[in-house]
Amino acid sequence: METANEDSFQEFVLNLPRGKDWDGAPLLLYNDTWYPAYCIRGVVSFQQNFRAQATDIIVASLPKSGTTWLKALIFSVVNRDRYSPKESPLITTPPHELVPFFENDLYLKSQNPNLDFPPPRILACHAHYTSLPQSIGDSNCKIVYICRNPLDQVVSYFHFLRNRVSGSTKPLSSIDECFESICSGVQSHGPFWNSMLSYWKASLERPNKVLFLKYEDLKEDIILNLKRLAEFSGFPFTEEEEKDGVIEEISRLCSFDNLKDLEVNRNGVHSSGFSNSAFFRKGEVGDWGNHLTPSMAERFWKIVEEKLDGSGLTF
Ligand code: A3P
Repeated sequence: METANEDSFQEFVLNLPRGKDWDGAPLLLYNDTWYPAYCIRGVVSFQQNFRAQATDIIVASLPKSGTTWLKALIFSVVNRDRYSPKESPLITTPPHELVPFFENDLYLKSQNPNLDFPPPRILACHAHYTSLPQSIGDSNCKIVYICRNPLDQVVSYFHFLRNRVSGSTKPLSSIDECFESICSGVQSHGPFWNSMLSYWKASLERPNKVLFLKYEDLKEDIILNLKRLAEFSGFPFTEEEEKDGVIEEISRLCSFDNLKDLEVNRNGVHSSGFSNSAFFRKGEVGDWGNHLTPSMAERFWKIVEEKLDGSGLTF
């Protein structure tokens, strides 16, 4: 992609503080966020060029918090008049293609991607609330953020990286190897506390604008949370739909077991190079207990408590 002033862009990138993801992949610190170096062009272009429409729905998250699930759910809710669950595009197309990311997909490929699709447009990002393009804050578009217990999020991210194959990364064999990075919040789109707190505060200040969901709540009661999601996004379920079991059908379609077993998600490859299967591992709450030793969990938990202290956000 060509920028208007390529030299000054390169200079800007060279001046950003550098770090490493847990597997050694390069990270750049920009707006208090550790971005994967490969997508910094998309990050800047998204910030500068995206113009929100009032009907847009933005899915936001820290990676490994349930983004794939939320994309499938919101796509199904919003498009339920067009496709019955049996004919859903989710059956043949992965959630990440139906709801593309701004930074590491659309704006990475082009400064002016074609966003000319029928409203409501559903688009996704990992940017913190404080780094979103101005027009998202200014317009009446909606943002749905999904958050996950940081202990499970880091375990999920560790496994994701372990499967990543790239020239610039080293094979990760044990979580001990990256535990110091985990504790310091150095991870793709981290620190986790900046991501969570930015959306948490925004959801308290602008509840009609930002819906803050927790992965654990969705696991506990998907029906209730589908209703919240539908109402918030302006597509509430009717009484008749509730009676006809439409909510249950959507929850089954988007369930971990159903999506994971679809051919496209078992064997397909995402345009970023990841196998679609990398987005479906265990889908459980509390898996951290199988991977962090009690002393690791205690140390990391103290950090979580310290960082979230006083915010009202708890796990
Ligand atoms: P685990 O690694 O703990 O299994 P993201 O979509 O943000 O990349 O997050 C991936 C995590 O969400 C992985 O967690 C993955 O298994 C889980 N996940 C993916 N689809 C899911 C679904 N439909 N229901 C519940 N969890 C899901």
